[in-house]
Amino acid sequence: MGSDLERLKQDWLDRIAGAGDLAALEAERVAALGKQGAVTALLKTLGGMSPEERQSEGPRIHGLREAVTEALTARKAALEGAALEQRLAAERLDMTLPVAPAAEGSIHPVSQVMDELAEIFADLGFSVATGPEIEDDWHNFTALNIPESHPARAMHDTFYFPQNGPDGRAMLLRTHTSPVQIRTMQSQEPPLYIIAPGRTYRSDSDATHTPMFHQVEGLVIDRGIMLGHLKWTLETFLKAFFERDDIVLRMRPSYFPFTEPSAEVDVGYHLEKGRRVLGGTDHFMELLGSGMVHPRVIAACGLDPDEWQGFAFGCGIDRLAMLKYGMDDLRAFFDGDLRWLRHYGFRALDVPTLSGGVGA
Ligand code: DAH
Repeated sequence: MGSDLERLKQDWLDRIAGAGDLAALEAERVAALGKQGAVTALLKTLGGMSPEERQSEGPRIHGLREAVTEALTARKAALEGAALEQRLAAERLDMTLPVAPAAEGSIHPVSQVMDELAEIFADLGFSVATGPEIEDDWHNFTALNIPESHPARAMHDTFYFPQNGPDGRAMLLRTHTSPVQIRTMQSQEPPLYIIAPGRTYRSDSDATHTPMFHQVEGLVIDRGIMLGHLKWTLETFLKAFFERDDIVLRMRPSYFPFTEPSAEVDVGYHLEKGRRVLGGTDHFMELLGSGMVHPRVIAACGLDPDEWQGFAFGCGIDRLAMLKYGMDDLRAFFDGDLRWLRHYGFRALDVPTLSGGVGA
C-alpha cells in the first residue's frame, strides 16, 4: 500500500508538472481533488477503515492530498507567471512611436514657401502684413497711381463684383498684393518693413497662369532708402531662399505705375540635366518686379514723400515654389490630386528655420 501511494503521488506530480496551460492544470485538479477525483476517492476510503488502519493510512493519504494541492498551487503560479510574461512581451509599447496615428495631410508647397519667406524676412526685420482678397478699386488701383484710364487696369484682367465699394466703384478680387502696401501705410506709422504674401486673382488660365495665384509683396518705408537697399535685400532673400551663394541678380529698367524708378529683376541660372537651376550667370530669367515707391503712392497714404522713401517688390510665390522644388505645371498646384500632394507636400513638423535650413 505504501509504495502504491508513493507511485500514485509521483504520478500526480508528473501529470501536474506536465500541464501545459491553466486549462489543462484545472482538468488535473478536478481529476485529483474534484468531487469524483482520484485523491478524493482515496480520502473517502478512510471512513471504511478500522481505527488502526486509519491511524496509519490517514496521514499518508492526507500527505498525498497536501502534496498534490501544493504541486497544483505551485504549477498554477508558474503558469500564470509565464502567461503574464508572454502578455507583457506581446503588449510591449514602443515609446518612440507617435501617440496619435500619423497625420494624413501634408503642407502644400505654397504654404511651405510662404513660411520660408516669413522666416527669411523676419530675420531681416520684416513683419508679415495682410489685407483683404476682396478689395475696392481705390486700394487696388487708384492709390497705387493707376488712374482710371490707365492701360495697366486692362492688363490686370480683373474679376469685378456687381456691388460697389466705399469709393463708389465696383468691388473686385485683388489682382496683386500691392494694395497691402497702401493698407499698411495707412494703418501703421513708418518706418515700415513688411512682406505681404497672399492670394491674388486674374481672369487668366493656361499652363503658367491660373485664375487664383499667389504673390508676395515687399515694402520698406523709412528715411534715406535707396536702390542699393533694394538690391541687397533681394539678393540676401534669394540666397537664403534658394540656399546658394552664387545667386546673381540683374536689374533691368522697367515700368510700374507705383514705382519710380522701376526695375525688373532677372536671376541667373544654369542647366543641369535639362533642368533650370538657379545660380551662376549662364542664362537669366525674369523673376520679379520692383522699384522705389512712387512719391504719389506715399502721398496717397497721407505721408510726406520728402520725409519718407522706400522700395517695394512683388514676386509670384507659385513660381518660387516651382523653381525651388522642381514642379513644372502650375495647374497641378490647385488640382487637389492626392498623389501630387503626397509627392510634393511637406510634413507638418517640417517648419522652416534659418538654423535648420529653410528648405526643410
Ligand atoms: N504688383 C505687380 C504685379 O502684380 C508686381 C510688383 C511690381 C509689385 C513692382 C511691386 C513692385 O511692389 O514694386 O505685377
